[in-house]
Amino acid sequence: MPGRLAPPIHARRTYFDPVPELGELREKQPVSRIRMPWGMDAWLVTRYDDVRAVLGDPDTFDVDASSVSMIGVMQPEGSAESDSSETPAERAQAEALTHAKIRRLLLPEFTPRRTRQLAFRVAAFVDEHLDKLAHAGHPADLIALFARPIPLLVICELVGVPKEDRTEFQRWNTVRLDTTSDPRTKAEATKRAHAHMSELVARHRKQPGNGVLGRLVAEHGHEFDDATLTGLVDLLLLAGYESTASMIGLGVLLLLQNPEQRALVCDDETADGAIEEILRYLTVGHTTMPRVARKNTVIGTTKIAAGDIVMCSLPGANRDPDFVEDPDRLDLTRGFNTHVSFGYGMHSCFGAPLARMQLRFAYRRLFERFPALRLAIPLADVEFQTESISYGILSLPVSW
Ligand code: HEM
Repeated sequence: MPGRLAPPIHARRTYFDPVPELGELREKQPVSRIRMPWGMDAWLVTRYDDVRAVLGDPDTFDVDASSVSMIGVMQPEGSAESDSSETPAERAQAEALTHAKIRRLLLPEFTPRRTRQLAFRVAAFVDEHLDKLAHAGHPADLIALFARPIPLLVICELVGVPKEDRTEFQRWNTVRLDTTSDPRTKAEATKRAHAHMSELVARHRKQPGNGVLGRLVAEHGHEFDDATLTGLVDLLLLAGYESTASMIGLGVLLLLQNPEQRALVCDDETADGAIEEILRYLTVGHTTMPRVARKNTVIGTTKIAAGDIVMCSLPGANRDPDFVEDPDRLDLTRGFNTHVSFGYGMHSCFGAPLARMQLRFAYRRLFERFPALRLAIPLADVEFQTESISYGILSLPVSW
């Protein structure tokens, strides 16, 4: 499309694979200079060991809040972070403290035990949407009818968004995450979603409901202002939705293309390991959030100056031959591996147990209910989502 910038090298894919140029970069120039679409220069780190070293050293490489806002993960207006009298160092320290506090409070909500308590609801959402798929008749769009609604309902249930509000949230978040919607429509949807979330926070302040938000307000409400709580709900709703939806959609397509390995996700003995390999192989997140170097340092042999922005390529790391043998081969028998699809270190994904559980139910129940599931269009006609922070599929017509 005229005037549209090509995605940067780390966000380019061919079907399930990062482009070969990314592998060449990892081999020849593992820490290289790139220009981001919004005009910023950054270092791109592509080797597994280097990515883990950066993500595992938050004293040197801190999340860069100003670049995060540029990629569209916005804080609501008036949040605590917009105090202009603070120096950047003071702001960084305040953000680190708030992050550590929020993470400490939220982590207990995402333990495998707490996640297992949600299993019954997740299974019910999956079955409900399999019924909808059956009623829709084929060909049906698996993304609109299955991959997108399930993670949205799960995250709404977890956070405590009442049933009557969920359709509205789904509508707004779909517009916000749709890369083809125009900026004004997106801004309007964001404004409406934030207004609705503030109202939700106010309602929970009066009468804390079930779910994460209710518990947070009841037990720690006095420690956070409304803007911070609204930002937190927004972060959970956005972070918990898109990447899980991408993994469901892309994962189903991958399993359709590799029928000889499909049984492994439907067997209790092998399912967990198979899902880890699907997570590694697909690596839907192109990068983690941008990091900023807090001091002069080196990555490998490359000198990094204080203030430089560093992007960690997650597909680069997960497809590094120094990490796993024959990394471009999908092998669902590979078993557990220490992939970085959920990040690494103090910002690693705390929704991972919840995401894994959704994938387990979604893949297995879909293929058990529709054993003859097949793609209703040629693979070459599948529309991939290439301009979002996570790789995915826009629509996936299937028959059975
Ligand atoms: C397959 C699905 C998912 C993938 C691939 C994924 C991936 C990631 C990655 C790579 C990060 C690290 C970001 C960084 O270091 O800069 C992250 C962080 C995060 N994820 Fe996920 N995620 C998924 C599902 C979820 C779910 C279901 C939730 C739900 C509640 C969630 C909530 C978060 C939050 C809140 C953070 C920020 C953690 C922090 O800054 O301490 N994610 N995720």
